[in-house]
Amino acid sequence: MAAPTSGLGLPGYLLLLLLLTSPTWVTSVSRRHPKDQANSPSSDVACGQPVLQGKLLGGELTRDRKWPWQVSVHYSGFHVCGGSILNAYWVLTAAHCFARGKKLQTFDMYVGITNLEVANRHTQWLEINQVIIHPTFEMFHPVGGDVALVQLKSPIVFSDFVLPICLPPSNLNLHNMSCWTTGWGMISPQGETGKELLEAQLPLIPKFQCQLLYGLTSYLLPEMLCAADIKNMKNVCEGDSGGPLVCKLNETWLQIGIVSWGRGCAQPLYPGVFANVSYFLSWIRYYMETVPNPPQILPSLSSSLRNNLSTLLTIMGSLLVL
Ligand code: ARG
Repeated sequence: MAAPTSGLGLPGYLLLLLLLTSPTWVTSVSRRHPKDQANSPSSDVACGQPVLQGKLLGGELTRDRKWPWQVSVHYSGFHVCGGSILNAYWVLTAAHCFARGKKLQTFDMYVGITNLEVANRHTQWLEINQVIIHPTFEMFHPVGGDVALVQLKSPIVFSDFVLPICLPPSNLNLHNMSCWTTGWGMISPQGETGKELLEAQLPLIPKFQCQLLYGLTSYLLPEMLCAADIKNMKNVCEGDSGGPLVCKLNETWLQIGIVSWGRGCAQPLYPGVFANVSYFLSWIRYYMETVPNPPQILPSLSSSLRNNLSTLLTIMGSLLVL
């Protein structure tokens, strides 16, 4: 049976309105949130606090709520790197993810996703406004200064599934911290990639020990951190780059590292090397605080109105294809 045509004018009007108000909206991915009052494009949500934390009896957060700051960076439609949400407009990732010659418009980002093949109603698709690469990237080391700040064209809408991670204090004592990394990187030396977001608890490895393991050919800069679970052969691998290394301190998760490089993946002798976030803190803060948000068309439209419109359009769209 054909879809009723009498209401076609309204969806058309709504589509136009929506395109005007939300330039990065795509039909396959919703930008709405179940609890409207929690929709906030501003940075007024708590960082490093997965919702429900501590409220589950003997249980674990479901996988999609456990690491709500995880970002998937795509190039040409394929996952290439991880990243983390710092606030509604800024994502932290590795500089080498944006290798020279790659076109910026070909990159995009996803948040609120755990299975790369299944976007759900919590998934948001985001376009890049600009990428700021650390000035020392590749200057003193083949992968030194491996930090990039990505400013998004439109703000992330926070929800129970999409939340920012906290930056660490500059003087954080890393001793005895329990740290985890997450990513969609390779899961076997044969190059198999995972579709589900994986997590690994990685003990931090003292710098001198890490340098001994790498030997003289791969020197480590003071801005680098090492971590690996040598006993259980857990490590980061290709595709995990740019993703976060986070540690829990007083019930709050802080990002202490960005996945950067390593020699091989499953070789127990070579830990994963991370860019030390504390080391780059003032650079990160400077850009987040001084670069203005990109201009929004009709900024007076609240995000909740935008999301309501998006919901409405999704519903109307599905009615039309029924
Ligand atoms: N550079 C890699 C990437 O782009 C990540 C390196 C992680 N570590 C390793 N042991 N290979 O995904």
